[in-house]
Amino acid sequence: MVNAHYGKSLNKSIIMNDVRLIDLPKILDERGNLSFFESDKHIPFVINRTYWIYDVPGGQVRGGHAYKELYELIISLSGSFDVVIDDGKDEKTYSLNRSYQGLLIPKLIWRKLENFSTNALCLIASSLPYDEEDYIRDYKLFKTLVNEK
Ligand code: TYD
Repeated sequence: MVNAHYGKSLNKSIIMNDVRLIDLPKILDERGNLSFFESDKHIPFVINRTYWIYDVPGGQVRGGHAYKELYELIISLSGSFDVVIDDGKDEKTYSLNRSYQGLLIPKLIWRKLENFSTNALCLIASSLPYDEEDYIRDYKLFKTLVNEK
């Protein structure tokens, strides 16, 4: 379970398999559908921050970093985009285009977001407040940290 990894120390055991798509509740209604998620219930962390990415010009790439401690859930509320994840060994691409599905990304996973469609709206729920100190922005340093024995 993801919570087992959640701690203050750098845990090197995060692997690609810890990244997963979560099907969120979906209330179908002829008036329009509704989805939602709650801290520690539908997602395995407490939400401390929510932000969103929008108006992305064609061809632009967001992300391009990992976090030391932070967990995230990424949802495509509208349109589509790709999330390329990397655990220091393998790379995998998730195409997000469903507003009732979230991609859970644990700490110590490199991610970049690309191929945004016109009017794509990306919602991100984070386990921690913004803290530049929690970012790993240097890919070589990331590789060293996660592959250290
Ligand atoms: P960054 O996380 O690098 O963007 P990306 O979504 O591409 O990974 O953040 C870009 C800038 O926005 C950076 O200067 C920090 C600032 N920022 C905040 O102030 N608060 C936030 O919650 C986030 C996500 C970013």
